[in-house]
Amino acid sequence: MTQDELKAAVAAAAIAEIEPWLERDTILGIGTGSTANLFIDRLARLRDDFKGAVASSDASAERLRRHGIEVFELNEVGTVPFYIDGADEVNAHLHMIKGGGAALTREKIVAACAERFICIADGSKRVERLGAFPLPVEVIPMARSYVARELVKLGADPVYREGVVTDNGNQILDCHDFMIDDPVTMEARLNAIVGVVTNGLFAARGADVLLLGTEQGVERLS
Ligand code: 5RP
Repeated sequence: MTQDELKAAVAAAAIAEIEPWLERDTILGIGTGSTANLFIDRLARLRDDFKGAVASSDASAERLRRHGIEVFELNEVGTVPFYIDGADEVNAHLHMIKGGGAALTREKIVAACAERFICIADGSKRVERLGAFPLPVEVIPMARSYVARELVKLGADPVYREGVVTDNGNQILDCHDFMIDDPVTMEARLNAIVGVVTNGLFAARGADVLLLGTEQGVERLS
């Protein structure tokens, strides 16, 4: 199977996971990226069975609207029963690296408001140790050089993602050569650097369910 076929399989599995719980007033949290897009495309079929969605990016909001799914502001909604999103890496504890699509801050905010985080990923995203994928850090633009120097002190090799401005008007530093032994501690440590808006470690609030696409089928871990 191709990577795209594996992503399509986990998107379909996520639909099966949430469909029995949908009610007319349900508002879902929806992530960002190619796997989340496949999920959104399948969700369109169920649009009359639930109320709408909160999106973690302008791109996902636009895609949801194109499918006729109403998009709500998180502040109007409070909590969502499910947040469904992809990942760049995920470990056995369902800690993740996210933010390859630069949406990490809004993803983390919507995930924080979710009762259950369902991670959908093809098998290539499953790792023993997080960090082979460069860890994104969203920074306030004027703090970029300062934060980069602090990241070097922690052992990372930060690279400015040139030309990328997040939906929040900020910039991204990608931390290369930064293998992470203790994701919960490192997530807090990175967040404590002045000028950091968010980092792409989703460990303090990891996923509750992982739907992983493999050649043998979709594995469900929780
Ligand atoms: C975007 C993300 C995505 O979930 C992550 O990059 C995975 O993307 P894809 O589903 O395209 O592989 O965190 O900021």
